[in-house]
Amino acid sequence: MSEMELSETDRYAYPHRVLHWLVAAVMLLSLASGLLLGFLGFEGAMERLGQAGTDLLYTSHKSLGVALLALMTLRLLTRLLYVVPDHDPPLPAFQRILSSAVHHLLYLGLLAQPLLGWAATASGNFPVQFLHWHLPGVVPVNEALSARLFTLHEWLGWVLLGLIALHIAGALYHWLIRRDTVMERMSLL
Ligand code: HEM
Ligand code: HEM
Repeated sequence: MSEMELSETDRYAYPHRVLHWLVAAVMLLSLASGLLLGFLGFEGAMERLGQAGTDLLYTSHKSLGVALLALMTLRLLTRLLYVVPDHDPPLPAFQRILSSAVHHLLYLGLLAQPLLGWAATASGNFPVQFLHWHLPGVVPVNEALSARLFTLHEWLGWVLLGLIALHIAGALYHWLIRRDTVMERMSLL
């Protein structure tokens, strides 16, 4: 790696890098808990985990999602405030277009998904929880709307899973196969 050592100006700003890895960790936990919720369903969760376990699973999922919304808001700021370094050497056109499309879609999806979860929960007359706090519902109660928003929330969950798989595959390709500087741009070390 020594030949490829990047200067700090060729990397994302440090606060932005920290947020990338925090978002990655919280996102993977949100997705995992969401998929578990979807897979078990409320009845299934009650049967297998009992009342306390079900409450914990729902509250954890909502708290992770709300935390993600806060982290993404900060991240949007660090993305807009700091310079995004150019790739040196430049990426081939296909990789540049594909990676930038995936990054933009991830930003959109990561902001939309917790907002959808929030609105679906509130309109279904369920509590919007962050740890032991109850957050304002904002959206009026409307069962039909809630059902539609939960369907979108599920659908976007699968889209995000696909985008993240593509993103991680791309990162690993650069890191392990091309062995270029792409990983170093985002790494904390
Ligand atoms: C980026 C953050 C989030 C991700 C990736 C995510 C992902 C998911 C996924 C994949 C499911 C399963 C859908 C299904 O198969 O039915 C789900 C369900 C659910 N999510 Fe989220 N979610 C996020 C944020 C939130 C937030 C902020 C809330 C509420 C405050 C929330 C509330 C719920 C609830 C209540 C369910 C269960 C829906 C049901 O009963 O069918 N989610 N989530
Ligand atoms: C855990 C495995 C992951 C690895 C190895 C990884 C690696 C990377 C790398 C190397 C970059 C820099 C790309 C460039 O040259 O510009 C990057 C950027 C990015 N990553 Fe990841 N990432 C991971 C997980 C995630 C997850 C889970 C998300 C979303 C939830 C995510 C969202 C992004 C976004 C949006 C960018 C664009 C840079 C920005 O403007 O913030 N990454 N990632």
